This record gives sequence, C-alpha cells and structure tokens, in this order.
Amino acid sequence: MFRCRVNLSTMIFLVILQGAAVVLFYGWYIQLSPCVPAPSNGKVHVLLLSSWRSGSSFMGQVFSQHPSVFYLMEPAWHVWSKLQKSTARVLRMAVRDLFRNIFQCDFSALEPYMPDNHKVSDLFMWSQSRALCSPPACPLTPRGQFSNSSQCAISCDTGGLKEVEEACGTYSHVVLKEVRFFDLESLYPLLQDPSLDLRIIHLVRDPRAVLKSREEAAKGLMMDSAMVLDQRFLPVEDVQYQVMQELCQSHERIHKRAFQTPPPFLKGRYKRVRYEDMALNPLEEITAMYDFVGLESNSQLEEWIYRVTHGKGKGTRKDAFKIISRNAADVAQAWRTILSHNKVARVQSVCKGAMSLLGYRTVNSEKEQLRLDLDLLMPLEPYQFSWLPDKTERPSNG
Ligand SMILES: *[C@@H]1O[C@H](CO)[C@@H](O)[C@H](O)[C@H]1NC(C)=O
Repeated sequence: MFRCRVNLSTMIFLVILQGAAVVLFYGWYIQLSPCVPAPSNGKVHVLLLSSWRSGSSFMGQVFSQHPSVFYLMEPAWHVWSKLQKSTARVLRMAVRDLFRNIFQCDFSALEPYMPDNHKVSDLFMWSQSRALCSPPACPLTPRGQFSNSSQCAISCDTGGLKEVEEACGTYSHVVLKEVRFFDLESLYPLLQDPSLDLRIIHLVRDPRAVLKSREEAAKGLMMDSAMVLDQRFLPVEDVQYQVMQELCQSHERIHKRAFQTPPPFLKGRYKRVRYEDMALNPLEEITAMYDFVGLESNSQLEEWIYRVTHGKGKGTRKDAFKIISRNAADVAQAWRTILSHNKVARVQSVCKGAMSLLGYRTVNSEKEQLRLDLDLLMPLEPYQFSWLPDKTERPSNG
C-alpha cells in the first residue's frame, strides 16, 4: 500500500510557506483594492460645531494656537457665499462632502467656490489660522509661538491652495470650525469613514445672549439668515426670532440624537460644551476639550487662555466680529441688562425646548431678569453623559 511519508521539517517548511503567501497576498490586496480605505494614520479630525455668535471664534483660537493643530474657520462659508440664493437644506450634503476633503487636506474641493487665481487670502478668515502664519506656509510665526493675525495678513499672503495643503499635511490634528451644520445625521458617513478619526465638539450658548449678540451684528448675518430660513419671506421684525427658533431646534435635535438615541459609532466622538461653563472655568473646560481630542496642554497655552478670558472689554457693537480680550464671565451675563424683557420673553418662548435640555433657566419677569444674583445656569452632569474615548484608544496625554 502507498504510504504518504512527510517528515516533520518538510511539514514546518510548508506551513511557513503558506503563512508567507497569506501575508504577501493580503499586502497586495490592501494596496490594490480601492475598497480598502487608507487608515487615518493617527491623525485626528475635529469639528467645532456651533452657531453664529456663540463664542466659537474664541474656541477656534484655543485650537488654532495649539502647535499641533491645523485650523480653518468656516469652510462652508465659501459654499454659502457662492450659492446665496440656495438654502441651508439644499447645501447640506455638499458642505458635508467638502468637509471630508478638507479634513484629508484635499483643498481641490474648495476650488469651484473660489475666485480665479485664488491665493491663500481668499480663504475665509485665513489669518486667524496660526498654521497659515507658520512654516511651511509662512516663515513669520515659528510653531509653538502665538500668532498675530494682523501681522500675518500683511506678511503671509504668499502661497495658494497647494501650499495650504502641504501645511495641512504636517499637523497631527485638523480642526475645522463651522456654524452651518444643523444635525448630526448628515455627518454619519464621516463618523463611519475609517480614513477619518472624527471628534465633534458641540458648542452651545444661552439663546438670550445669542440674540443680544445677533442684534449687534445683524447686517453681517443677513445672507446666512435668509438661507437658514429657506429664503422664506418674513416681516423684518420676525426674522431674528424665526432664525433663533431654527437654531434652537437644531441644537435640540443634535442634543437628543447624541444623548437619547446615539448610534454606536458616536461613542467617544461627541462632546457638548456650554459657552457659559467655558466662561466661568476656562482652564478646566479647555483642558477637558484638549483631552477629548488627544492634545496636550502646556503652561504657555494656559497663560494665554487666562489672559484672553480675563480682559477688560465688555464686547460692544464696534467689535462684534473681533476676538478680543474681555471678561468672559461678564460677557455671558450682559444680555440681562441690555435686552428688553419683551425680547427676552419672545426668545424664551421660541427656544423653550432647547433651553430646558441645555440647562438654561427662564426668567418670568423683568425683575427676575435684572436680579443678577439669580443664577440661571443649571448644572449639567458633564461626563456621565458625555462620552470620553476609551483610555486605551487615546494617545497619551502626559
Ligand atoms: C498685533 O500686531 C499689531 C501690529 O504690529 C499690533 O498693533 C497689535 O497690538 C498686535 N496684537 C497683539 C494681540 O499682540
């Protein structure tokens, strides 16, 4: 009878050969298959999702000045400005897809919305981005130093989008601030995209303070307001309140989605921040945000944060669009003495649901409104509900 004789060393050789073949073919498959996306390579993508007049420019600076961050302010501004007769609803997915590209440092998706022969200065508020004022984009501000946007605007308008892309590629974190997202659902494909490691920081603010600030900046918000309202015609005196209602509903929608019916892939990727908490405890809140996205803080950054949140300015009409040093805690309360009680009552009524979810107490009379010792901020359990990423998934934070 035929006996198959294979000795042990032949056997071992065959097993190793088979193993090598598997590894080799898997490698080819990964390289050749268009269906296997590139991993995020440890890069973290952060969306600062907020609304107009809610302190998001300040929060953006907190990230922009960090030496590991490539920051850009409101990329969707380009889409909205180019298509002003359109509406927020229609442009929603175009904006979402633009973000996917920019997070991956591909700026070609912005080109259709830019003028011919565009330069870096055609990017909205470009000089607010420290990365665009630092090498390799510009020699002006060494990395790790704080940039001055007026000096940057004078010296750094040298490159185009190619140079911006190149700069973007050299940072571990790409942070985009935007006020033109009104739900979480449109972001699901980005949250599930294995080539992105997306974290969403949702910044909310007391709607009464937002209204006060919007009144001071009304002209600059006209185009956006019409688009938020789907170009509906409304009497002038109703526009602000109707916009506030839309915005409050969007915060409510996002909050409910994140806290009450979150999809599994949102775990560790969503954090809600109240402007008022940030104003009262800037260091603590900002350190928690850095931690959430895997950025380390340092004493230089902490000193800067203290300085810009403890200034003397009250925030007047003249500097409605500037980021200046002012006393953040005073600014948070200013609406109480400046807005009439009529207006307060009206915004409270259109924003009731959001205010109760986000922990803002309503005032029932002018007297209550003016009693500044009456605390209107209800404490929210911060981390019981808000998901920090698992310790094991996070880069070490010193
Ligand atoms: C930025 O630079 C300008 C012009 O050199 C200067 O006037 C301004 O005080 C600087 N701002 C800050 C915050 O240092």
